[in-house]
Amino acid sequence: MSKVVWGILSTANIGIKRVIPAIQAGHRGMIAAIASRDAGKAAAMAARCGIPRSYGSYEALLADPEIEAIYNPLPNHLHVEWTVKALDAGKHVLCEKPIALNAAEAQAMVVARDRSGKQVIEAFMVRHHPQWQRVRALVREGRIGTVRTLQSAFTFPMRDPNNVRNRLEYGGGALYDVGCYPIVTARYVFGAEPERAIALVNRDSERGVDQVTSGMLAFPGGGQLVFSSALQLALYQRVVILGTEGRIEVPVPFTPPKEQGTRIIIDTGASLDGSSAVVEQFEPVDQYLLQCDLAAAAFRGEATQEFPIEDAIANMRVIDALYRSAESGHWEQP
Ligand SMILES: NC(=O)c1ccc[n+]([C@@H]2O[C@H](COP(=O)([O-])OP(=O)(O)OC[C@H]3O[C@@H](n4cnc5c(N)ncnc54)[C@H](OP(=O)(O)O)[C@@H]3O)[C@@H](O)[C@H]2O)c1
Repeated sequence: MSKVVWGILSTANIGIKRVIPAIQAGHRGMIAAIASRDAGKAAAMAARCGIPRSYGSYEALLADPEIEAIYNPLPNHLHVEWTVKALDAGKHVLCEKPIALNAAEAQAMVVARDRSGKQVIEAFMVRHHPQWQRVRALVREGRIGTVRTLQSAFTFPMRDPNNVRNRLEYGGGALYDVGCYPIVTARYVFGAEPERAIALVNRDSERGVDQVTSGMLAFPGGGQLVFSSALQLALYQRVVILGTEGRIEVPVPFTPPKEQGTRIIIDTGASLDGSSAVVEQFEPVDQYLLQCDLAAAAFRGEATQEFPIEDAIANMRVIDALYRSAESGHWEQP
């Protein structure tokens, strides 16, 4: 197939560091233009990234007739507004996580998708990494028996008060930023939606954003997720899946560097010193590249997206329920 022509909405860090290089290194896409609120910044990033055109407004990017697909890495509070505008301009959209600030506002994307006939996908790159596809296959084939509990943490220190993650009005906070990953991977592994959610939230007294959020989800049949997410703790990420016949550990579950291989550990629990563990290694891959190539193929109708926008909204409902629970002090239904 000819390459899908992408436009990049803003000079966001994640675009510059990960997604632009991934589209450019991939087989199915090319980038024609990048836009910024600041024309000078857009031109400088275009030159730095080898992108032919730059625009000093997001509107100008959406008006570019050559562009078929938009990558939207704006701050969280702008995801819905600009994704809907892009769909209405006749572009497919790959939108960063979390898809919205709540499930109700995300519904506008479904309406715009159906109105435009274009596709919109949430950029959860983790599900494209072969380690997660392998973990799900192992769970489904019963390698560790019946899975009862998934434990996870995703934490890092973000102390810059001006960063979008520390701005309440931009959709900052730990749950939106990193807590969404344990949720999406638990839903992926259990292949189901949680029935109940409960959370404990510590908010920054000045900025109001949640700094440390822990939560539990109850899945049908007794499956559990127990997780912590934080913007004020040392860098750490881990998933451990506990089953009746063993456990699977994913040591670098969410952001494995593309230059490094990863591993998962499967252990029956026959000994506590790890001698009963089997390690499976994975070659280095760029999960962003896999995500963008699959999105491009789906946009052209040459691949099926396993996770349509309705899945993103289901994830959002869980986040909504956790924030509600932090207020009510009770279990809440997504
Ligand atoms: N999938 C992943 O691995 C991953 C990793 C990190 C972040 N993310 C997601 O990507 C998104 C962006 O995160 P980031 O860390 O890359 O953010 P960032 O570097 O702060 O970039 C956000 C960009 O949005 C534009 N923008 C428009 N209105 C803005 C406003 N009022 N304030 C600040 N910026 C504004 C700016 O671009 P211009 O100045 O050029 O207009 C800015 O560069 C978030 O939704 C985040 O959750 C995903």
